[in-house]
Amino acid sequence: MEIKWDQNLAVGVDKIDNQHKELFDRMNKLILAMKEGKGKTEVMDTLKFLEDYVVKHFNEEEELQKRNNYPKYETQHKEHEEFKMDLNNFKSMIEKEGLSSASAIKLQNSMSLWWRKHIKDLDMDLGKFLMKV
Ligand SMILES: [Fe+2]
Repeated sequence: MEIKWDQNLAVGVDKIDNQHKELFDRMNKLILAMKEGKGKTEVMDTLKFLEDYVVKHFNEEEELQKRNNYPKYETQHKEHEEFKMDLNNFKSMIEKEGLSSASAIKLQNSMSLWWRKHIKDLDMDLGKFLMKV
């Protein structure tokens, strides 16, 4: 499944939506590097490029939630931590087993599903909440 941001994923808060778009771009860069059979160093670099932004985005989003006393902060935090852990596991997997196009497809599908679900289940609710405060 393609990693693609579309209007259905809009949370309604510009800062969050723009960060989600940037995240999707960075995920696609990683997937592309893997699919094009780039070397391990380059793939690891694009993974790091993605990781940095993931951390920045989660931190800023959580900061926004805490500042506004968002009641579902814990649920958000838990999912964010899970995603960071998944990325880490993926990194260890590449280090151990190397790269394959099968792992690129698998990663693409799981990231696409994770983000669609996370945005629709949680970030949308956050967007609605923030618009009311
Ligand atoms: Fe989130």
